Amino acid sequence: MRKPLIVGNWKMNGSLDDNKALLDGFKAGIGNVKVAEVAVCAPYIYIPDVAEQLTGTPIAWGGQNMSIEAKGAFTGEISTAMLLDFSCKYVIIGHSERRTLYGEDDALVAQKFAVAHKAGLIPILCIGETLDEREKAVTEEVVARQIKAVIDEVGIASLGDGVIAYEPVWAIGTGKTASPDQAQDVHAFIRGQLAAHDKAVADKIRIQYGGSMNAGNAKELLAMQDIDGGLIGGASLKVEDFLAICTAAG
Ligand code: PGA
Repeated sequence: MRKPLIVGNWKMNGSLDDNKALLDGFKAGIGNVKVAEVAVCAPYIYIPDVAEQLTGTPIAWGGQNMSIEAKGAFTGEISTAMLLDFSCKYVIIGHSERRTLYGEDDALVAQKFAVAHKAGLIPILCIGETLDEREKAVTEEVVARQIKAVIDEVGIASLGDGVIAYEPVWAIGTGKTASPDQAQDVHAFIRGQLAAHDKAVADKIRIQYGGSMNAGNAKELLAMQDIDGGLIGGASLKVEDFLAICTAAG
């Protein structure tokens, strides 16, 4: 039985005051979340503050990105050791915004996965097709290519220690959600791709759905057999909505 994982991806949002209000709300409500594991991925500069506020609670935290380099002349970058200095558990890898706005390709994303895994962080590998790719009916080809890049780099066993987030790009921040059946089809396909290498890994790995998941649609999506949680953007910035998604997961 895979334990659902709900992760808030705050993206470039928040302030010290807003974060405190949000986290106070989460802490007050987390006792009602009986089954799901919960985490938030904050902007780098707020991670120390988030760590301080969440230490001793069941809510974990993580980064939204990281460098493949260990240290040195890489202006603006953050290393895995720095994330670990503040007890990050997770790091989001290859979010579609990183892929499209900052030019991260499959090869770099795979390297990031390898470096994060080796450092002891749990990588949340984001994959998913654009609207154009869905309309051309190449969704399966796209996600298969994205997964293969990581398997080729780290091997199937290491991939099993991570998390996959299937995030159709056309559903991110658009209010358009994949229907439960649409999402389930791709999740099952992804699990099948992994099973072709190692059935135990495929059975164990958590595959989150991401893309306009909200308090209204979470229950139906999370009820699908191969959907093991959610990566939540917009709705993770509202106390009631995020908690409603967490409790919908059990
Ligand atoms: P959204 O973002 O929930 O705002 O669509 C999800 C994500 O980008 O991870």
